[in-house]
Amino acid sequence: MLRVGVLISGGGTNLQALIDNVEKGQLDNVTIEVVISSKKDAYGLERARDHGIRAVEIIKKDYSDPGLFEEALLDELDRNNIDLVVLAGYLQIVPSKVVEAYKNRIINIHPSLIPAFCGNGFYGLKVHEEAIKRGVKITGATVHFVDEGTDTGPIIMQKAVELKDDDTPESLQLRVMEEAEWVILPEAVGLIAKGKVVVNNNVVRIKE
Ligand code: GRF
Repeated sequence: MLRVGVLISGGGTNLQALIDNVEKGQLDNVTIEVVISSKKDAYGLERARDHGIRAVEIIKKDYSDPGLFEEALLDELDRNNIDLVVLAGYLQIVPSKVVEAYKNRIINIHPSLIPAFCGNGFYGLKVHEEAIKRGVKITGATVHFVDEGTDTGPIIMQKAVELKDDDTPESLQLRVMEEAEWVILPEAVGLIAKGKVVVNNNVVRIKE
């Protein structure tokens, strides 16, 4: 059984996609053990509580020292014996000690086809505004392992979404979520739970 901890900062629609897949039996060897929010009262916390999942806030500015924040995060993950950390709209930089402790066991969902429209400052609507401004014909979403960089870890899965001439950043964001994020994030977690995801020299292979 893969014990998953989901880190959020906002609405939690990607978390909801994971919850729905677990409850529908599409992820039968996965349990979501804890949801951790970097923001007070994030709606994703309510989603978790509605499904009987432990939901906690660990907010950096509540700690007098960054080291104490890092420790609180590690304690919560360790206490729940987490095997895989999923960043689902987590806007806080993951402390390096956590990245080290969970090497190749932290994944992130990013709303573009990395390496396009990613890196510092590229999150939320900004990603889609830039895609529209650049006039790309396809965009999409990427699930990748988290390393010390921003959106730089090995790519696990990607799914493309075509742009429409009348797209706004909002309409594009929603379509990328519906058609890509909410599909590949659960799929990637399922593959990891089956031990099918292998990383060699920063390149991911999915075992048959
Ligand atoms: C999503 O667009 C995700 O790709 C990005 O942040 C947003 C989070 O949305 N990382 P939600 O909180 O999962 O609804």
